[in-house]
Amino acid sequence: MTSKVRLCPVADVKDGEPVGVFLEQLPALAVYNVDGDIFVTNNMCTHGNAMLTDGYQDGGIIECPFHGGSFDIATGAAKAFPCQVAIKTYPVRIEDGWVCIDQLEGVA
Ligand code: FES
Repeated sequence: MTSKVRLCPVADVKDGEPVGVFLEQLPALAVYNVDGDIFVTNNMCTHGNAMLTDGYQDGGIIECPFHGGSFDIATGAAKAFPCQVAIKTYPVRIEDGWVCIDQLEGVA
């Protein structure tokens, strides 16, 4: 069974300025605007204890603030060393101007 979770208003997510969303029972999330398309990934880098929203978005790539690793925002694929494990991504739905994801049981 799934239920929808509202993360933040679409209008709060500017192109190139990822937004951190921290909700109970979910991992820390990052919401991105890439040329008007909205994406959601886990916020915690898979290499270490860094929030990707403290890093640098360059188009469809998010660079970690710690060691220069990076990820493809759309697919989660690791793009630059030392990141080797993909970041988790979430299917996004826009409803009533809000960025939403399905909260899957056991997602945290
Ligand atoms: Fe992100 Fe090392 S913690 S690249």
